[in-house]
Amino acid sequence: MITKITREELQQKLEHPKRSVVLDVLSPEDYRLAHIPGALNLPRDQVRTLASDLVARKDLEVIVYSAGPACHASENVADQLTAMGYTDVRHYAGGKSDWLQSGLPVASEEARNNANAEEIETMPANKPMTKILLDGGDPDETQRIRDRLGFLDGQTTNPTLVATNPDVQGRIVSGHRLSIGEQKEEYKRIVQKISPLIGSGGVSLEVFADFNTTAEQMVSQGEEMYSWIPNACIKYPCIPEGLRAAKISVERDMRVNMTLCFSQAQAAAVYAATKSSKQPVYVSPFVGRLDDRGDDGMQVVRNIKEMYRQGDGHVHVLVASVRKMDHLLYAFALSAELATVPAKILEEWAAGKLAVPGKDFVYRPLGKNGKPLRPVPYQQLDLNASWETFDLKHELTDKEIRKFVDDYRSTLAPAA
Ligand code: G3P
Repeated sequence: MITKITREELQQKLEHPKRSVVLDVLSPEDYRLAHIPGALNLPRDQVRTLASDLVARKDLEVIVYSAGPACHASENVADQLTAMGYTDVRHYAGGKSDWLQSGLPVASEEARNNANAEEIETMPANKPMTKILLDGGDPDETQRIRDRLGFLDGQTTNPTLVATNPDVQGRIVSGHRLSIGEQKEEYKRIVQKISPLIGSGGVSLEVFADFNTTAEQMVSQGEEMYSWIPNACIKYPCIPEGLRAAKISVERDMRVNMTLCFSQAQAAAVYAATKSSKQPVYVSPFVGRLDDRGDDGMQVVRNIKEMYRQGDGHVHVLVASVRKMDHLLYAFALSAELATVPAKILEEWAAGKLAVPGKDFVYRPLGKNGKPLRPVPYQQLDLNASWETFDLKHELTDKEIRKFVDDYRSTLAPAA
């Protein structure tokens, strides 16, 4: 059902933006020129392909606007969204002209760039197809990187990154130990600040999971986290209970990101377990961690991409644990759908004018010490097999789970 919303109501919503998503349906060029702060861009001709990326939950309030009362693009988009099953679509008929005439502020990439001539040149006319996510846990850093790049498609967080958030650290350093409830509130506060700053890649939030956590316990945490922000993506580890949690979650229409992936077999299991998903599922191979122990992490990405060519495209590869510029450039060259990158490397990428690999780019699989990394051979795996048949065991998955649990407990949890 489509209902109208006035400018005053919209202003109030923007003060408490968590429960609604505002969509500017104009072209990307018009959107870049000026849009209502916090609005995401959903051009009318991309509704079918982009809507579920931008607004994962169909029961959220979605507010659409276009140029003004004479422009019917927003009505058209509102109709399309309703037909797709969105249940609470609202239409701001006054649109951008009404907003501007009232002297209200707009966000503008152009204005930001004009303030800094250097940045005009670095605006990504050749923005890679790979979505760029920030790997971090500090909203100020998110804002800084977004300003620096001129865009930011998403963000991934994890227990270690949240534990090292400056505010959380400040509390710990001043001797305050957080209760479990306070930890949750901190995580929620952090992602609620990040959520409006990023694009269609969403914010990935990781559930607490050790080797005793059941799928049901993971899902119950995931469902709660999913309600914190409109663009959440829930991270479950690539272990049997994590896979089972993912299966349940996608059946409940949640977006998931399968983390701590170190092998092609784990990625095959992710594919098989989430086949029923109506929206893209992410799988995150950790390339740096594989390189650390001498295995060629980017080759695992290449193998997964190759294997997924036989599939239906519902799983997107998110290159994680990126440690150097070449990881990022090769992720572009392999057409990975997403990459999550630490701020330092994104700064370096911005300084290099957001370069993308040229035709002559060659990835050299070398470890830190300059030694060649061990090749990881491609495996013939049947994506139609049931997910339980794949070998999920990987020692790095277990090691990283232990590390996240330690970070979560030692840094944040109260001493029992
Ligand atoms: O997204 C993965 C990440 O946070 C782990 O990265 O560099 O610590 O292996 P890294």
